[in-house]
Amino acid sequence: MLRVPGAVMLVFFLVPFLPAQAPMAAGDPQTGRQLFIGTRELKNGGPPCMACHNAGAIEFLGGGNLGPDLTNSFSSFGPGIAGLLENVSFPVMKPIYDAHPIQPDEAQDIAAYLKGLSGVIVPVDLFYRFLVLSLVVFVVFMLIIWFAWRHRLVGARKRLVSAGLPLNPQR
Ligand code: HEC
Repeated sequence: MLRVPGAVMLVFFLVPFLPAQAPMAAGDPQTGRQLFIGTRELKNGGPPCMACHNAGAIEFLGGGNLGPDLTNSFSSFGPGIAGLLENVSFPVMKPIYDAHPIQPDEAQDIAAYLKGLSGVIVPVDLFYRFLVLSLVVFVVFMLIIWFAWRHRLVGARKRLVSAGLPLNPQR
């Protein structure tokens, strides 16, 4: 009977536990998110995607409205979306990102972020959030103005009366 040395046995035993080959340059969705919303700058100084695009329930008020919502863009473009970002052809974006190209690793990160959004439901109330927030800010400013000037125009007569001065000194 063939005797397999212990070391070889050990290798066979360990093979299933060896780390699997890392998948091809998968991007990091966290970094992608930061690049998308602009908390991390694109290396060549391009503007963050959020300036023109919404994606998922990004931040409280969502992203810009100039470009289409990108929540389900990964479903339409697939992994090729990273390539599209390295070599942008969308008319509005092209001149901007030709001058400030997106690096391959950045494109991978953003693609990974967009992939993670597939199927996310976009809150329909983003517009109403904006409306309500503007109203709240408006009311707060009115209150501040009212508070700062609350003594304006009411002072003169009241002070004269309470000082006991004659209202019409000529008489
Ligand atoms: C200056 C505004 C602007 C910025 C910044 C911008 N985009 Fe766009 N994007 C657009 C507009 C507008 C379109 C619609 C196509 C066109 O007219 O270019 C578009 C189209 C797209 C599309 C195709 C969507 C579709 O469904 O057809 C993708 C994907 C996309 N942008 C991804 C991005 C990503 C990722 C970033 C950030 C790296 C980004 N965009 C930054 C304006 C912008």
